[in-house]
Amino acid sequence: MKRLQAGDRVHLVDPKNRQYALTLKPGEMFQHSGARISHDELIGQLDGTLVTLSNGKIMLAIYPTLAEYTLKMPRGAQVLYPKDLALIPMWADVYPGARVLEAGIGSGALTIALLRAVGQQGQIVSYETRQDFARTAMKNIERYLGVVPNFSLQFQDVYEGIDAGTAEQPQWFDRVIFDLPEPWRAIPHAIQALRRGGIYLSFVPTIPQVVQTVNALEQTREVGLIETFETLLRTWNIKGRSVRPDHRMVAHSGFVTVARKIERGVWRSTTIQQDDLSACDMEPVSKVDHQGKENDST
Ligand SMILES: C[S@@+](CC[C@H](N)C(=O)[O-])C[C@H]1O[C@@H](n2cnc3c(N)ncnc32)[C@H](O)[C@@H]1O
Repeated sequence: MKRLQAGDRVHLVDPKNRQYALTLKPGEMFQHSGARISHDELIGQLDGTLVTLSNGKIMLAIYPTLAEYTLKMPRGAQVLYPKDLALIPMWADVYPGARVLEAGIGSGALTIALLRAVGQQGQIVSYETRQDFARTAMKNIERYLGVVPNFSLQFQDVYEGIDAGTAEQPQWFDRVIFDLPEPWRAIPHAIQALRRGGIYLSFVPTIPQVVQTVNALEQTREVGLIETFETLLRTWNIKGRSVRPDHRMVAHSGFVTVARKIERGVWRSTTIQQDDLSACDMEPVSKVDHQGKENDST
């Protein structure tokens, strides 16, 4: 059983599912719309307890999930939404023990998701140019994960280069993950810093950025299996007979591009479109031509 402890970041949830973040400090008071509850009343309660405010209003006290935490944590830069945070570690195949290069750190939301995916044996190196963003991000990371010895932050412009050891002692990265405005400017040296078979992933909000990214990846002649996609998450209202999609959703966040570092050369996979697949499916095994005659060319 997990109990809420002094110093922890917790959320109070109102009956409309709105969440309010607070860091528990003995002697302090949480106030909302004129109602109050002392932190001392919360400290020691079980995670998931219903608590009563001074006006009789009931709220739920919880430890936030990573998705809930990132939506409420202090922000410098725009954070990635949980729907993208969930997908990136899977599509970049970030595994326990992996060595990952990330840029930029922003508010630290993706960094937390990556740190959880690599575990204690893995390592995250994050490049960031803005000290103010980095400060906010470090606080967000440590508030959620505690001290993270396997994380290092470099105040460096990733467009200018990436430190991946020397020719004699290379320190390859297993994964390179960018949430940057112009990832294509870092791609030539990012691919150099990636081990063969390693995965590149970047997130950008517009299609012209995707096109420049894919062009830069192809120009390296060392990547294959390039894919670009976006994700849409539609929540539903399930209340009595009102069973329908919610009226609001995050209609757009950005596009993910993933690629694999492969042996140098020209290698292109042709993408099979859904239309091509259904045309294949309709074709009988014995191959009958458009006039209905048996085609024995095979
Ligand atoms: C959209 S934010 C990243 C948000 C982050 N993924 C998160 O989930 O909180 C983009 C970050 O990239 C940083 N950045 C922009 N250009 C950079 C560069 N050339 N090198 C390193 N960081 C850069 C910005 O300062 C900003 O913090």
